[in-house]
Amino acid sequence: MLSVNNISMRYGPRILFEDVTCTFFAGRRYAITGPNGAGKSTLMKILTGDIEPSKGTVSRPEKLGILSQDHFAFDEYRVIDTVIMGNKSLWKALQERDALYAKPHEQLTDADGMRLGELEGIVGEEGGYSAEADAALLLDGLDVESSLHERRMSELQGGQKVRVLLAQALFGSPPALLLDEPTNHLDLDSVHWLQDYLCEYEGVLIVISHDRHFLNSVCTHVADIDYQTVIMYNGGYDDMVLAKTAIRSRIESENAQREKKIAQLNEFIARFSAGTRSAQATSRKKEVERLQTADLARSNIARPYIRFQMDQHSGKHPIEIRSIAKSYDGVPVVQKFSAAVSRGEKIALTGRNGAGKTTLLKSLIRSAPGFIDDSDREFPVDGGEVLWGHNVALGYFAQDHAESITKGTTVIEWLHQFNPQASQEELRGLLGQMLFSGDDALKPTKALSGGESARVIFCRLMLQKPNVLVLDEPTNHLDLESINALNIALQKYDGTVLLVTHDYDVIDEVATRIWHFKGGKIDDFKGPYAEYMIQAALLQEKGPQQAARGR
Ligand SMILES: Nc1ncnc2c1ncn2[C@@H]1O[C@H](COP(=O)(O)OP(=O)(O)OP(=O)(O)O)[C@@H](O)[C@H]1O
Ligand SMILES: [Mg+2]
Repeated sequence: MLSVNNISMRYGPRILFEDVTCTFFAGRRYAITGPNGAGKSTLMKILTGDIEPSKGTVSRPEKLGILSQDHFAFDEYRVIDTVIMGNKSLWKALQERDALYAKPHEQLTDADGMRLGELEGIVGEEGGYSAEADAALLLDGLDVESSLHERRMSELQGGQKVRVLLAQALFGSPPALLLDEPTNHLDLDSVHWLQDYLCEYEGVLIVISHDRHFLNSVCTHVADIDYQTVIMYNGGYDDMVLAKTAIRSRIESENAQREKKIAQLNEFIARFSAGTRSAQATSRKKEVERLQTADLARSNIARPYIRFQMDQHSGKHPIEIRSIAKSYDGVPVVQKFSAAVSRGEKIALTGRNGAGKTTLLKSLIRSAPGFIDDSDREFPVDGGEVLWGHNVALGYFAQDHAESITKGTTVIEWLHQFNPQASQEELRGLLGQMLFSGDDALKPTKALSGGESARVIFCRLMLQKPNVLVLDEPTNHLDLESINALNIALQKYDGTVLLVTHDYDVIDEVATRIWHFKGGKIDDFKGPYAEYMIQAALLQEKGPQQAARGR
């Protein structure tokens, strides 16, 4: 069981939530919902003890399984160690023990000897002697091959990293699991696996996700952050939306009544404050102050406005790929892939985690004209070439996009470097479109939430106005409203698009061509996803040879 008592959280003048009291019980599965920047990760960090609330107290079990939204925190560690770190006290004891054993024998003091005895005790109690084997078992269950167990986390691809971090959270069977956006980067099969796993889990589960289907199938309760508080609903995501609509109309009509009253009082004050009725006017001023101090709590749901424009068109044939090949440690990932892309095509790259989608994109953009960071140019390939057409200017949304936003500056300053000619008004306008209003433009880049950093990259792309967009999982971290806005923007965009996403609706509505990655090969299908699926199903039914004959 976890509970929070009267907690409030604010950053400067901004209130995320106030006086929240709620309890999370074992055997129930809770979602924390709310739009980007609502404070979901913040609430979770308060629950785990990572940060302190501005006010209030939290009680929690001693051991927690945690998956944080930041997937880069363990980059320098080995995979297997990363998993074992899930048991903090064990990991600490192991580290200290190994440091003592590393001392030259003659330098070991009596105190060291005593300490070693204690540490062996802890290691034994915490299952330290079978830790590596237990961790390996979890990793196998999560489909992480044993050849990867000794690798460093930084060498792993997005979906594999999430799996390792999940194993870390599950390691040592903690009584509570707190997972911040576990489905990001996961392909559909893995999401289904996770759903089943979580539904069997017997402790308290608290999970953050923007995936409606996932929440509906996993959660028994929803803690929604809105109106500067947390409201607990029974049921899954859709149940919450239904119940919330009713509550919303009540709160909003109360707000409207209050606003009307304030307006009436203000009118009276304006008319009479100088004349004979000034005493009454003064008392009404007090009334207005009273009404206003209880600030109107508004719903935080909002939709950004994304619109990708181009400075100029590219030529008719922006990209021609000739036998591009790329392998890692001798294992081929992209094998001599060739294709010609016409202007205006919108290509979705589909296929399971680790199939090579990001690798292909990186192999292409390294030589692209346009707005590519120097680090992206350093990606080596095995062979082949890419011919870039006339006037191509390419913009790139990397899968690990949060990394590309420099820390230690503000949002508006960071953006300004990409177009020094842009005026402050122009930048502020763009940021406003992406829901960074007023002082939010001055937000330190290190404070950005997952969805907010994605929106900042969209600002960059809107500022640079490329005519080819390469987007690697841009929908991860985005809330439903933002995914919708992106979907519409991509449909309206006149340029050429290469896109990876696990969001079915976006693929279905945006893509005009599919590159499907499977078994080391790339299927090139010139048509929308629904048609591709039909054809793939037909192929399966008939068997590949017959289908080939029938074509
Ligand atoms: N150190 C900080 N200083 C100022 N503002 C901060 C700081 N840390 C977080 N914030 C702000 O608090 C708000 C809530 O952040 P949080 O990461 O909890 O959002 P979230 O609901 O998890 O969003 P997302 O869905 O995008 O992950 C954001 O607007 C964020 O910019
Ligand atoms: Mg978050």
